[in-house]
Formats: sequence, structure tokens, C-alpha cells
Amino acid sequence: MEKNSIVQALALLGAPRKLTGEEWSGILHTLDVDGRELLAEKAREAASLSFGNRVYLRALIEISSFCRNGCRYCGLRCGNRLAVRYRLSKEHILECCRQAASAGFNTFVLQGGEDPMQSDEWLADVVFSIKERYPEKAVTLSVGERSHEGYALLRRAGADRYLLRHESADDAHYSFLHPGSMSLENRKRCLALLKSMGYQVGAGMMIGSPGQAKEHLVRDLEFLDSLQPQMIGIGPFIPAKGTPFGNEPHGSVEDTLLLISLLRLRFPRALIPATTALATLCGNGMERGILAGANVVMPNMTPCDVRDKYTIYDNKKSHGSESGQQLALISEKLERIGYRIDLSRGDYGQ
Ligand code: 5AD
Repeated sequence: MEKNSIVQALALLGAPRKLTGEEWSGILHTLDVDGRELLAEKAREAASLSFGNRVYLRALIEISSFCRNGCRYCGLRCGNRLAVRYRLSKEHILECCRQAASAGFNTFVLQGGEDPMQSDEWLADVVFSIKERYPEKAVTLSVGERSHEGYALLRRAGADRYLLRHESADDAHYSFLHPGSMSLENRKRCLALLKSMGYQVGAGMMIGSPGQAKEHLVRDLEFLDSLQPQMIGIGPFIPAKGTPFGNEPHGSVEDTLLLISLLRLRFPRALIPATTALATLCGNGMERGILAGANVVMPNMTPCDVRDKYTIYDNKKSHGSESGQQLALISEKLERIGYRIDLSRGDYGQ
């Protein structure tokens, strides 16, 4: 009987229509009980059909630790007196790109807090300069909520992709995680805008964030099902000192892996990273993420002198195999589990 319902859950994940909340809930319940092993195996098969044994690499450049928002979970929240702030200049960012390019990367991910000093115009100029130097390479932005005009300007400057996790698709839970100045409605509006402008879009959520229940994950899955993002970033919640959630327990590694597998089966061609948060919680997090169906790794290329200041959560890993300077180590670790790094742009659907 159990086996039967697992087979049913797997079949539903492949259904060419939107699933209802009840169906998602049933799938989560069934697979949570004892379908995990089989689920990971099927997810690996699905990833392998889409990508073979290739894992795409992206150079992550954390451009500012300043943020105007007060998200309760994030170490960079504006009210966090323990946060150490820095912002990279245009020259700094171009130098990071130069290093990433010479290491072989073909995608630069510019991520940062919502820093009012890094205006749309300033960032568009940076993107334009990167694309001028490296017209063949992809630029991904992950710099939060911006205006319609801002997103359009950045797209015209040459940005190819945009990561903006929705964080929670349940209104009440979203409000529990965020300050009153932010809303799920606006987050959704931003994601829809980005998509309509031709960006490859990434959404996602933390696993095990404070207050998160199964029914919230059901909302997240329904939302992703309707958004159809090209990229999906998920990782465990990890407490950050100096934040309202600083003493909350971290999210479960096993649950994160289960969600990666489930998303892989539902979105066979999506770009799904094995995130730094996962690697921070367990020594072989990168490998476990890949073996659960992830197909992207984002090594850190932030300048070493400020890298430790981008503390969205405690003990965030950014050296060793999380570092862009350690491609040989990353490659070796992946080879040991039967995968190889792919430094091409790795666009969606290619
Ligand atoms: N633990 C785990 N992930 C976090 N993020 C922010 N704060 C934390 C935390 N404490 C995630 C958010 C954000 C991404 C850049 O990092 O989901 O979108």
C-alpha cells in the first residue's frame, strides 16, 4: 500500500497540469513517511536525463552587505547592529569578474542587500560594463525588489537572469518573516514583471524557517507550479546572530534534500543549486544536494577581505569548496560522486 502511494505521488509529479493543494499535501505526506530514498533516486534520474552528469558553476559576487529591509531571518537586516557593512565599487566588481573569467566561469551572479547607494542607474552601468567586456557571458542579478523601470533598465543594460526568492507563498507566514513594509503581493508582482521582461527568473524559499508548517510548503509548491521559474533556490534556514530569529533552530538537511528531489521531479529542466546554506549545515552538503537532484553550484568569488562580512546567517561557509578559488577541489569532490563541472553558461532549456 505504501509503495503504491509512493508510485502514485511520483506519477502526480509528472502530471502535465497544475496540482491542487490537496494533491501537494498528499505528495508531501507520502514521501515524508518513507519515500525519500526512492524519490532521490528518481530525481537523480530526471536530472541525468536533462543534464547528464554535468553540474553548472556560477561565480557568486556579493556586492553589498547594506540593506534597507528588516527581514526577521536575515543577518543583513537593517536593524542588525552586529552586522559588518561593506559595499563593492564598480572597479572592485569588475576585478572580481576578471578573476572569475580567468578561472573559467561564464556566469557572474551579482548578489546583495537592497543597498540604496547601489541605485538602478549605478547597477545598470556596472552590468553594461561587464557585458561590454564579456558579451558572451551571462549576468545574473540578485538585488531584491525594484521598480518596473529599474528592472527594465537593468535588462536593457544586459542582465540575463534574476534571482528573487519568494521566501513564503503564504500571506500570513510571509508577514511573519518580513517587516510591515514588505508584502507577498509585491514580491509576486516583481517576479511576474521580471518574467515578462524576458529575464530567466529564480524563486524559492528557505526550508524550516520559523513558523513554517507543511501547509506553507504546499502554498510554495502551488506558487512555483504557477510561476514556472527557470531557477529554484532552496536551502535550510540557519539562525543569524542579532536577528529576532537568532535563537531559533535551523531547518532540516533531510527536508531540504527531499524538497530538492521533489522540485527536480516537478521541474526536470530547472536550474537548482546545491546551496551554501546546505553546505554550511553538513560537511558534504554540496554532494548531497547534487545526489538529491540539484545541478548547479555557486562558488564564492567575493573579495577575500570582505567575504566573511556577508553573513546572512551564522557560520556561512565561503572558503574551501565554497570558494571560487578552489575549482579543482570542487571538481574533485564532484568526480568522486560521478559528476563533472560544466563551466558553460548553462542557460535554461539548453
Ligand atoms: N538562513 C538561511 N537562508 C537565509 N537567507 C536569508 N537569511 C537566511 C537565513 N538566516 C536566504 C534568503 C535569501 C537568500 C539570499 O538567502 O532566502 O533570499
